[in-house]
Amino acid sequence: MTVASPPVPDLLARRVPGYALEQPFYTSPEIYQLDLEHIFYRDWLYAIPACQLAKTGSYVTMRVGAYEVIIVRARDGEIRAFHNSCRHRGSLICKARDGQVAKLVCPYHQWTYELDGKLIWANDMGPDFDASKHGLRPISLRNLEGLIYICLSDTPPDFEPFAALARPYLAVHDLKEAKVAFTSTIVEKANWKLVWENNRECYHCSSNHPALCRSFSLDPEVAGVAADGSVSATLQAHFDRCEAAGAPARFRLEGDGQFRLARMPLQERAVSYTLDGKAAVGKNLGRVALPDAGTLLMFHYPTTWNHFLPDHSLTFRVTPISALETEVTTTWLVHKDAVEGVDYDLKRLTEVWIATNDEDREIVETNQQGILSPAYIPGPYSPGQESGVSQFVDWYAAWLERALAPLPVAAE
Ligand code: FES
Ligand SMILES: [Fe+2]
Repeated sequence: MTVASPPVPDLLARRVPGYALEQPFYTSPEIYQLDLEHIFYRDWLYAIPACQLAKTGSYVTMRVGAYEVIIVRARDGEIRAFHNSCRHRGSLICKARDGQVAKLVCPYHQWTYELDGKLIWANDMGPDFDASKHGLRPISLRNLEGLIYICLSDTPPDFEPFAALARPYLAVHDLKEAKVAFTSTIVEKANWKLVWENNRECYHCSSNHPALCRSFSLDPEVAGVAADGSVSATLQAHFDRCEAAGAPARFRLEGDGQFRLARMPLQERAVSYTLDGKAAVGKNLGRVALPDAGTLLMFHYPTTWNHFLPDHSLTFRVTPISALETEVTTTWLVHKDAVEGVDYDLKRLTEVWIATNDEDREIVETNQQGILSPAYIPGPYSPGQESGVSQFVDWYAAWLERALAPLPVAAE
């Protein structure tokens, strides 16, 4: 028998900080719907690296909850996003995950849109039809140093605090000079919050990630966050060395905990995510002069964590599919002039994170299965090893609490 769970505000009110969430947060379709409506439909979401749309008419589609989205490079070179729903009778316009087109043509009755969303052809619509009133509905979009973010809300929150903080860190990685070397998309049969919780700690790394542990540091300070924002003297010395070499590095956690940037050291002697720790690409993407600068870690809840290395960059996109399924897309970026087989070997470039992603999928799915048991009760996070998980869950709970708070009654 299923016992009805208390209302969500009550669940949030009785949450114990430093402990995992109660079962409904990881399993309930109703809370999943709240997550979509109050987080994913309202905030800025990482979509793709701009270089993925290399040519005029290159497009990708993505689905976020119930929304269908097209992102396309127009003739003026600008990247724009539109709702993927025809202004005639609503059909999807682009069905493929990606492609290249001269115009956006609806497959149903061939209404034809310019790449900037204007309706330019609609057969037999009568003398009173006004094409200018039937362009594709635009979606807010920002290009942050070569990373495309979208927002589905008609009243997007201010993107600038995050952009202003991230810009100098990202600028030295020259993502405008990048090309996509490889993309992988996997589906993890787990709630999106479990995918994030797993990402925010490396407590699990030594027993689950043999390939990653050859280069990624197991120091909990690298994945975590001190309650008072302080860093150790060793880490501060690393930040200082990077910054003296022109690569912004210091730890910043801002936006009420929504985004974090820090250039973290790798294992001693490792410079990239390879099995031997040596560089994966001979031609660097970016201008980070210090070979052992490590990895610039950037996360922005709820959709992206990233690793920017001196030789290449990696972006990760988290897209919820249902209460119990989450898509994770990983994109490997290299310098656009780097030649596969000459400057890099694709297997060597990708094998560590392909293995790591699959190992993470396995443990996150196993975590979800255990949480589905009626016997599950939330356990404590390790203060030393899982401060990042606590931080994520605190951010999530605070966000949902604010969103569900009753509106103040206006004074007469
Ligand atoms: S629904 Fe698109 S042309 Fe008719
Ligand atoms: Fe992991």
